[in-house]
Amino acid sequence: MTVILRTIAEVRAWRRALPAGQTLGFVPTMGALHAGHISLMELAKRRASVTIASIFVNPLQFGPNEDLAKYPRPIEKDLALLEAAGIDAVFLPGVANLYPDGASTFVVEESVSAPMCGAVRPGHFRGVTTVVLKLFNIVQPDLAVFGQKDAQQCAVIERMVRDLAVPVEIVRGAIVREPDGLALSSRNVYLSPEDRAAAPLIHASLQAAKAAFEAGQRDASALAAIGRKVLGQDPRFTLQYWDVRDPQTLTSIDTVPTGGALLAVAAYLGSTRLIDNIVLAPF
Ligand code: PAJ
Repeated sequence: MTVILRTIAEVRAWRRALPAGQTLGFVPTMGALHAGHISLMELAKRRASVTIASIFVNPLQFGPNEDLAKYPRPIEKDLALLEAAGIDAVFLPGVANLYPDGASTFVVEESVSAPMCGAVRPGHFRGVTTVVLKLFNIVQPDLAVFGQKDAQQCAVIERMVRDLAVPVEIVRGAIVREPDGLALSSRNVYLSPEDRAAAPLIHASLQAAKAAFEAGQRDASALAAIGRKVLGQDPRFTLQYWDVRDPQTLTSIDTVPTGGALLAVAAYLGSTRLIDNIVLAPF
């Protein structure tokens, strides 16, 4: 049975009652769970003896014109998926639990979070780091699993954990994709049938650049040009960025170094914002 915990006090009591010597693995989510989320749950189960997930649509990480109100919240289905995955507990806080009236303390990472999604979604990563550190303080996990789908989010959290000496090991889980290459996302349900048919072009643009890298191309602007050209085949895409970056610091790269690089893209397809990335392996 997946135990449902609704308040900070309930999580703390559950945590205290765990037998000594058990390791606790944590998977924070905003719900609308899909196979990508479940793969992180399975990774947490392999890496820790006890597992807890959270479902909280965090208002602090949404911009004023973003999809907070319409973000999908299929809570009964989510609970059934967690149960089927064998997760031991789930934390389902309300907004008032996590943000008491007058909450005025925030966590800001100022470097890794600046470019890419940080540049086009002001305040987004401030919302993510604030809620994740708070969830870590409540759950006190030994390890926490995040998806490579949100590569910048992983890098920002790893930097926060390092800089603030947070005693949590961050584990990255691989991107889970549809058979046609589209990365699973809770936001894919917003896509019209026509947009859904066009969506795999995002992954195709990354694959095309990766193929050029594997054929010897090391020049970052040449790789980005290949990716942008593929995405440019469909006028329905409005590109936000198609970048070649250092996977840890997210600084821009001119020439792919032997340590590899991150190719990352964000684009609107109709009114749906999609992101994806691929890692160029060290060589
Ligand atoms: P959410 O978008 O629900 O994602 C929860 C976790 O699932 C994140 O670590 C995300 O990277 C991962 N994930 C999403 N799609 C994936 C896919 N196709 N394959 C593998 N992993 C995938 O990310 C958030 O929530 C929030 O920002 C959160 C960290 C919970 C803070 O509010």
